[in-house]
Amino acid sequence: MTILPTNGFSHLADLLEKRTGQVLHPTRHWRVEMALKPVLRRHSIPDISVLSELIQNACDAALEQDCIDAMLNNETSFFRDQANFALLTGPVLDALHARRSQQRRLRIWSAACSTGQEPYSLAISFAENNEKWAGWLIEIVASDISMSALAQAKLGKYSQFEVQRGMPVRLMLNYFEQKDDEWLLRDDIRRKVSFRKHDLVDTSPNWGAFDIILCRNMIMYLGQGARESVFTALSARLAPDGVLMLGAAETVIGQTERFAANAEFRGFYQKIGNMGNKGSPFLPLNTFQSFAFCRGFPNITQ
Ligand SMILES: C[S@@+](CC[C@H](N)C(=O)[O-])C[C@H]1O[C@@H](n2cnc3c(N)ncnc32)[C@H](O)[C@@H]1O
Repeated sequence: MTILPTNGFSHLADLLEKRTGQVLHPTRHWRVEMALKPVLRRHSIPDISVLSELIQNACDAALEQDCIDAMLNNETSFFRDQANFALLTGPVLDALHARRSQQRRLRIWSAACSTGQEPYSLAISFAENNEKWAGWLIEIVASDISMSALAQAKLGKYSQFEVQRGMPVRLMLNYFEQKDDEWLLRDDIRRKVSFRKHDLVDTSPNWGAFDIILCRNMIMYLGQGARESVFTALSARLAPDGVLMLGAAETVIGQTERFAANAEFRGFYQKIGNMGNKGSPFLPLNTFQSFAFCRGFPNITQ
């Protein structure tokens, strides 16, 4: 495999960081080189050094967007990080069910949703528990910066490999229809999620307050300055007693003063200033003690 020329790489990495806040770690150089090959073919560009020159010298917005989309890491899967996802769909949602029982309304934002597996896993979890949530207004908003990821997400169309990653067979057969070698998500589930293009490093969108924000496996690829901007934007959109879920390898510790880790549930964070209200933390222990660990979560062993 050819090695990505350092100068070519640095211009492309600069473009990615300028437009998305993402920092390309050297260990990902080879992946980026692979990912850019289809871009070279589509634009009839002979190699990466020519691409790099074009990026520097020609103002070609379509080419830039294509390169950015190719360089973004869109890795995702259904019910990703099963144990943490089970905490979300079990005790965390149980607590919010109790807390919002008057309004019977829940707003969830899957920020950096990639090709849609994360918000659709949530939509399927709600469908699996439809009796419990009957009469509730559940809004799932999903956003990403990548146009190509969003295009696939909106279609709800997955390859055999993608649909099998994390999706129990029973749920796959229940919620997807096989068409040739692809699997199409049922329309009623697809319609439960509304997709929007959004750059998380930009200002906070005017989308109202969310009870839960998932921002998983995106912040870890940002530089320090961009991380703080994202935490500020997320904090502005999270309800005072809402909950932020990060990826299994991410944390707020040492990253921001706006959130603190939930003492009980790994991977969940609350806005600072809202943990000790009236002596009761957002997710009070007594709300959970009566609930089984994975209550409400589809049985993934099926
Ligand atoms: C590794 S995927 C994670 C997807 C999903 N959250 C998960 O954990 O499975 C990271 C996603 O973040 C998106 N992303 C990167 N920079 C972004 C930005 N500045 N604003 C919004 N999304 C961004 C990428 O396009 C990609 O789809």
